[in-house]
Amino acid sequence: MGLRRLMFASQKGGVGKTASAVNVATCLGQAGQRTLVLDTDPIGSVGACFGALIAPGHPGLYGIGRWELPDLVLPDVAPGVDLLPYAEDRRPIDLNALHHSLERLREPATEQYDFVIVDTRPSVADMTRRLCQVVDEVIVVFQCHPLAYRTLGGILGQLRDARTDGAGARLLGLLLTMVDGRDPRAAQLEGHIRRSLGQALFPISIPLDPMVSEGLMSDRPIVLYLPESPVSQAYQELTQTLLRAPALAA
Ligand SMILES: Nc1ncnc2c1ncn2[C@@H]1O[C@H](COP(=O)(O)OP(=O)(O)OP(=O)(O)O)[C@@H](O)[C@H]1O
Ligand SMILES: [Mg+2]
Repeated sequence: MGLRRLMFASQKGGVGKTASAVNVATCLGQAGQRTLVLDTDPIGSVGACFGALIAPGHPGLYGIGRWELPDLVLPDVAPGVDLLPYAEDRRPIDLNALHHSLERLREPATEQYDFVIVDTRPSVADMTRRLCQVVDEVIVVFQCHPLAYRTLGGILGQLRDARTDGAGARLLGLLLTMVDGRDPRAAQLEGHIRRSLGQALFPISIPLDPMVSEGLMSDRPIVLYLPESPVSQAYQELTQTLLRAPALAA
């Protein structure tokens, strides 16, 4: 099976992209998939989720092509998972350089990994549209909140435009996050969203659970910190769904 480059994207910020990227990457590693998780956000929250220390001057993803990939990654941040961080100096995103780096990543990554999981910032300008040219699959993350739901159109439009531009990335599905099971209004909203989006939505939603943040205090994604919790089980189920989805890259 070929390399699968899977991007987590959203229109709005703070919707659980990073939490989803790191937990899915960890579940993939546990399932025996050689996984690289890539941080395209200068804030560096992917590294923080694993408690990774990035060496001063580390070029992160901007070093692709200049460094050998094994020298650039932080190995084994979780079982079966390597991390390619953002540059340690947190320089502002250079979209052309980012695009170029991801393009150059493909060849070495194909030899060394089954999955590259790409965490992104909320999409500004045409970032998602551009990155669709250098990934194979996209999951759009949105929170179970009216505003998040109503801003979905923007990012879905960028995906459509990307395909019109000839980008090969396929929308795997929409992932609903932070669903508060104790709030009847959230259940009502989820019902409404499921009726209107139908099969575009993954069958599993990610429940709201404050322990997701607490796990970060111990430098571990929740699937390692509290593997039996409903939110961990949801990420495991989502990962199994992804593994059943046919890979695109040959
Ligand atoms: N299922 C969840 N239940 C409760 N809190 C969560 C859940 N998922 C994520 N969080 C918390 O919500 C906040 C935002 O999550 P996260 O950083 O994953 O969002 P993001 O979309 O990556 O944000 P940004 O757009 O800033 O990159 C974090 O504090 C995170 O710990
Ligand atoms: Mg994030």
